[in-house]
Amino acid sequence: MSIAKLFDLTGKAAIITGGANGIGKATALLLAKAGANIAIGDFKPEEAEKVAREIQNLGVKAIAVACNVLKDEDLVNLVNAAVEELGGVHILINNVGGGGGGRENPFKITTDEFKRIFELNVFSTWRLCQLCVPHMKRAGYGSIVITTSMLGINKSPNMSAYAS
Ligand SMILES: NC(=O)c1ccc[n+]([C@@H]2O[C@H](COP(=O)([O-])OP(=O)(O)OC[C@H]3O[C@@H](n4cnc5c(N)ncnc54)[C@H](O)[C@@H]3O)[C@@H](O)[C@H]2O)c1
Repeated sequence: MSIAKLFDLTGKAAIITGGANGIGKATALLLAKAGANIAIGDFKPEEAEKVAREIQNLGVKAIAVACNVLKDEDLVNLVNAAVEELGGVHILINNVGGGGGGRENPFKITTDEFKRIFELNVFSTWRLCQLCVPHMKRAGYGSIVITTSMLGINKSPNMSAYAS
C-alpha cells in the first residue's frame, strides 16, 4: 500500500481549534493535503478566513468559524457549522492552549488564574470532545488529538498550572 493511501483522509471532516496560526495552521494544511475537509475555529476570524482560502485552493472544503474556546456557545456553533457544512465531524484537533507566561509560582498563583488556565486547556478540550464524540460514533470513525507541551514532563514550577 502506498504511503498516500495509508494516510488518505478523503471525505473526512476535521475541526481544528486555533487553526489560524502556528501548529494549528500547519496541522490544518497537513490534514487538507491528505484530503480532509477542514473547519478552523479561531478567535481571529480574518486570519482563519485566510487559512481557509489557502486550504480551499488545495481542492478540499474549508470553513472559518469565529470561536473563542472559552465560550460554550462558540464551541456549540463550531461543531454545528462543521456538521452542517462539512457533513460531520471525524477528526478533532484540540490545539488551543497556553499558560500564564511563567507567572505560575504554585505558592503565588491565585485560584482564579489557575481556573483560567484550566478553562483554556482542559475544560474547552473536554467540552469539545463531549460535543464531537456523538458525531464520530454515528460515523463509525473518530480521532481526537490534543496538543500538549513538553512541560507536562519537564517540570517547571513557574508553569505549574499549564504543566498540570
Ligand atoms: N509553540 C510552542 O513552542 C509550543 C510548545 C508546546 C506546546 N504548545 C502548544 O501548542 C498549541 C499551539 O501553539 P502555537 O505556538 O501554535 O500557538 P500560536 O500562538 O501560534 O497560535 C494559536 C492560535 O490559537 C488562537 N487562539 C488563542 N486563544 C484562543 C481562544 N481562546 N479561542 C480560539 N482561538 C484561540 C490564536 O488566535 C492563534 O491563531 C498550544 O496549545 C500551545 O500551548 C506550543
